[in-house]
Amino acid sequence: MLSAYPDLDAANLPAHVAIIMDGNGRWAKKRLLNRIKGHEQGTEAVRSIVRTCRELGISILTLYAFSTENWQRPKTEVAALMNLLKRFLESELEEMMNKDIRLNAIGEIERLPEDVRQMLQKTMKSTENNNSMLLNLALSYGGRAEIVRMVREISKKAKNGEIDPDSITSSIVSDHLYTRGMQDPDLLIRTSGEIRISNFLLWQVAYSEIFVTDTLWPDFGKDEFVRILKGYQQRERRFGKVEA
Ligand code: FPP
Repeated sequence: MLSAYPDLDAANLPAHVAIIMDGNGRWAKKRLLNRIKGHEQGTEAVRSIVRTCRELGISILTLYAFSTENWQRPKTEVAALMNLLKRFLESELEEMMNKDIRLNAIGEIERLPEDVRQMLQKTMKSTENNNSMLLNLALSYGGRAEIVRMVREISKKAKNGEIDPDSITSSIVSDHLYTRGMQDPDLLIRTSGEIRISNFLLWQVAYSEIFVTDTLWPDFGKDEFVRILKGYQQRERRFGKVEA
């Protein structure tokens, strides 16, 4: 099945890949360009990684596209990112339909501008029956905010008697996160060298294999992704247990 990727073991690919796409600004700065050019080039890298994941048969790709903290960037940069996102959704719809990709958004979607929200709703609706891959965009997303929201939801249910506090399990917690029903990421990649989680999927990455590369996001491509997948396949995942 993976004839184009002879070095990869098709039976041992991550089902869920999550990516912290960092370094657009530095990519632009290095070229004396406006930061927005970096985000534009970063969007091209998004297109390429979505295609590669679909080709490989990866079931879920979660991309950290905009964090709750990113609202504090200059207005012009926030507006440019929102515009890029809207254009991306418009331009990719046809390909998502052809390739059977479902789009989903996680985060405080209600904070997004009306036009972006509408485009998101439209794309999610159009792709809702696509099953070959889930493209999850984290938008106005923060891991702590997600946990606070989960605690509120579970507390309300406990208060009105729907949930017994003593019977709350980690699977009940997972079911109250934006990622409910999705398996946790097997692989977390961060570009541009910083070794931090930056408030991304705090609960869900408990046992993810983490790879950090110095490559800036706009330069991140298929070859490097395949190299990381090879590295992933060489790791032994023990989930806190001893070797079998
Ligand atoms: C980090 O680079 C990147 C972001 C804050 C946004 C990521 C957005 C894109 C890749 C483009 C739009 C997304 C989609 C899904 C179409 P940075 O600006 O923090 O870079 P720096 O750390 O070098 O300044």
